[in-house]
Amino acid sequence: MNKLVGLTRNFSSSSSLNAIKTVTVVGGGLMGSGIAQVSAQAGQNVTLVDLSPDILQKSQKSIENNLRRVAKKIHKDDASKIDNYVKESFDRIKVSTKVEDGLNSDLIIEAIVEKLDIKQQLFNKLDELAPQHTILATNTSSISINEIGTGIKRKDRFGGLHFFNPVPVMRLLEVIKGDHISEETYQAMMEWGKSVGKTCITCKDTPGFVVNRLLGPYSAEALRMYERGDATKEDIDIGMKLGAGYPMGPLELADYTGLDTNKFVLQVLYEKTKDPVFKPIPLLDKMVAEGKLGIKSGEGFYTYKK
Ligand code: CAA
Ligand code: NAD
Repeated sequence: MNKLVGLTRNFSSSSSLNAIKTVTVVGGGLMGSGIAQVSAQAGQNVTLVDLSPDILQKSQKSIENNLRRVAKKIHKDDASKIDNYVKESFDRIKVSTKVEDGLNSDLIIEAIVEKLDIKQQLFNKLDELAPQHTILATNTSSISINEIGTGIKRKDRFGGLHFFNPVPVMRLLEVIKGDHISEETYQAMMEWGKSVGKTCITCKDTPGFVVNRLLGPYSAEALRMYERGDATKEDIDIGMKLGAGYPMGPLELADYTGLDTNKFVLQVLYEKTKDPVFKPIPLLDKMVAEGKLGIKSGEGFYTYKK
């Protein structure tokens, strides 16, 4: 099956009263840059916001490179169209260090650091300043949607849009229903997800939603297995790739996702479920404290060229 299925589909603005044509993504890191990319590929006008101009510059570089990978596949029979595809999609993305520059969008997706109070502060501000029709969404991996939205008034126009890393390749989008989301907002989110080429599934506001609730125990057991010295990291990863058909082993995946994100996800799952499988893992805590966050920091279980 083509991993990039749907990427060339244009967004149809006539299919819903609430059709989303303009998107702001707050947080220009790993996930935010991918969300901005797939939105622009689908023909939407995007504002990408990050506190750091350096991160925005890095995001633009990675978006351009990744758009080229996509363009080479779409236009494999006509290389002359590649540059144009990259330019058109790239030009749909404006960047800014001020969230105020992105308020005027139909949808604002938050992809900032996985910390409840920081996300709440951002949403309270967005709720106060964005136009009434704007839908607010969080890409949180694990925090409760209802808790993130505690302070906002437009609870009916708020929900979770949980993408997977790498966003341009992973075909799933989890649409998370908080307790107060309206049917209209939910439908607009599902429709928007399809328009950016994703297959959407729905989950209630439960710890880890569908995918992370199931990936969490797997990841935690792999980390403990390595911590105990049952097998080398290479053998654990080879084991799951060749023995279970996974594209990456669990330790490679932890490096890819970011060990900080991994730690937060397990922490929230433990707080919410008290299941001992999610208990803190000293090795993971130590690596995060040492700044060994995986690919993004250059070192995790493996080392990477910066
Ligand atoms: N943008 C566009 N295309 C990309 C891309 C990107 N960022 N990254 C990879 N690709 C494309 C490549 O061009 C290539 O395309 P073709 O096969 O059509 O040529 C394809 O994806 C495979 O890429 P590579 O050959 O570079 O590498 P690979 O075969 O090793 O695959 C991978 C890389 C897609 C990341 C694969 O290893 C994989 O699927 N890994 C598992 C990822 C996963 O499980 N993600 C979920 C993490 S959990 C999560 O995200 C939720 C959370 O809340 C933490
Ligand atoms: P990241 O560290 O790569 O990027 C976060 C970005 O947010 C940084 O560039 C930071 O400068 C910026 N930022 C922080 N506070 C901000 C603010 N107030 N305003 C604007 N920008 C701000 O993190 P990431 O991996 O992209 O994760 C982002 C979110 O997506 C988290 O909630 C995470 O749990 C979730 N998520 C991550 C993954 C993954 O695999 N990494 C997968 C799905 C969901």
